[in-house]
Amino acid sequence: MASYDLVVIGTGPGGYVCAIRAAQLGMKVAVVEKNATLGGTCLNVGCMPSKALLHASEMFEEAAHSFAKMGVSVSAPKLDLPAMMTFKQQGIDGNVKGVEFLMKKNKIDVLKGTGKILGAGKVEVSGGGKTEIVETRNIVIATGSDIARLKGIDIDEKRIVSSTGALSLEKVPSSLLIVGAGVIGLELGSVWHRLGAKVTVVEFLDRILPGMDGEVAKQFQRLLEKQGFTFQLGAKVTSVDTSGKTLVAKVEPAAGGAAESIEADVVLVCIGRVPYTEGLGLKEAGVAVDNRGRVEIDSHFSTNVKGIYAIGDVVAGPMLAHKAEDEGVACAEIIAGQAGHVNYDVIPGVVYTTPEVSSVGKTEEDLKQAGVAYTVGKFPFTANGRSKVNQTTDGFVKVLADAKTDRVLGVHIVGREAGEMIHEACVLMEFGGSAEDLARTCHAHPTRSEAIKEAALAVGKRAIHM
Ligand code: FAD
Ligand code: NAI
Repeated sequence: MASYDLVVIGTGPGGYVCAIRAAQLGMKVAVVEKNATLGGTCLNVGCMPSKALLHASEMFEEAAHSFAKMGVSVSAPKLDLPAMMTFKQQGIDGNVKGVEFLMKKNKIDVLKGTGKILGAGKVEVSGGGKTEIVETRNIVIATGSDIARLKGIDIDEKRIVSSTGALSLEKVPSSLLIVGAGVIGLELGSVWHRLGAKVTVVEFLDRILPGMDGEVAKQFQRLLEKQGFTFQLGAKVTSVDTSGKTLVAKVEPAAGGAAESIEADVVLVCIGRVPYTEGLGLKEAGVAVDNRGRVEIDSHFSTNVKGIYAIGDVVAGPMLAHKAEDEGVACAEIIAGQAGHVNYDVIPGVVYTTPEVSSVGKTEEDLKQAGVAYTVGKFPFTANGRSKVNQTTDGFVKVLADAKTDRVLGVHIVGREAGEMIHEACVLMEFGGSAEDLARTCHAHPTRSEAIKEAALAVGKRAIHM
């Protein structure tokens, strides 16, 4: 019987990163994966394919609407959707191969099949008609998450799709109805809207992007509406009639009341994700889960069973690839007897639309709720030189600082490249920096990042260009 120091179940960004870190620390490691390819949700049906389509569709839209005003004259671009899907697949394959290479490089055994925990120290792997049992000193559960379903609405991945189907539509729907104005709805809605679909988003709450700063979400909603999105907030889809050529969704006010019908070619259901633990044998192994099905862990990623740990989407916290990765590293270090740690106060979130939305730390709503006295500095991209010359002035930067200590508590950005720009705020916050530190840090000119410095200056009411 093969025996290991660590067996990681699942090879998403949590699992494969944990395995690499453990191998670096001298452990004999195996990963178990039931999917045909490594990389989990993120590489196969999540982050990577969605970003490939966001990039390609953005280029399509730029060619159609932005080139001419810069004096670049091209004939109207034509969409070759199969070629765009090939571009997406090449991106997936490249990244998946990269993970395979990293497994080999770090001498990590890849066990193909479904992993079932038989108890502390024993994992059964079944797949391809074979079953083997491996022994291990430690187990890390990194089995990720699955789509949340809407009662009474069956996802067929053709006409009623989850994010997975929405990443592989065979033609551009003339109308797309999206249930849920979260990250997936707005990113994949952007892809298909740019390629020609009429997009309507139905959201249960009275705002989009719950969890993001309210002012940021409001301005972002206006920008999406300017692009042509239609939002129906405070509403829910209760059924979808699939009998006709066109789907007919019944939409009701969230608070109850008269229903109306919305017709659409395709309905995308994206109302969140749920932890995935099917077939893992948690009950038999005595591993506790909470009331939302998430594996319960302590501050050291340890479950209630000694030697069994859990990380990533399958445990509490934001369902983000970089959060899973950082937990993977910290968990491997803890197993090796080191002091692994994740700072949950500084985990950035990015929506990869145009413009992008990025955020780290507390929102104004968080601070109000916690009764923390704070100061705000804001700076619009309309006043940023680089944005003006590029004519990409949508959005703004918002810096929130502690009123007493000036320590930066949150930074929120709507704007092009916001997802890259947020990291200077992350580094600053990791080091407990103040708005004054940010304001006095020299920023290259002309860059969009100067808007962050100006927003920090605005905390002290001394922005230069406003
Ligand atoms: P996963 O990536 O879900 O991997 C779990 C793996 O475990 C899977 O490969 C699964 O097959 C395997 N597995 C499960 N059970 C077993 C078993 N019993 N035996 C063997 N193998 C098993 N996050 C971001 O940070 N940025 C983004 O841009 C982003 N975009 C996204 C876009 C979409 C459309 C979606 C759906 C998600 C996106 N996410 C994004 C979220 C991100 O994909 C997840 O947070 C991340 O993949 C979680 O990593 P994980 O390792 O916990 O689990
Ligand atoms: P989400 O949690 O971001 O948004 C779901 C939305 O659906 C919420 O606004 C919620 O209020 C709404 N909703 C719930 N039930 C509803 C109903 N019955 N009717 C109408 N609206 C309803 O979840 P989403 O977009 O499905 O994404 C899942 C996860 O994937 C997220 O947690 C996110 O972290 C991750 N992800 C991250 C990305 C990124 O980092 N760029 C990209 C895509 C996904």
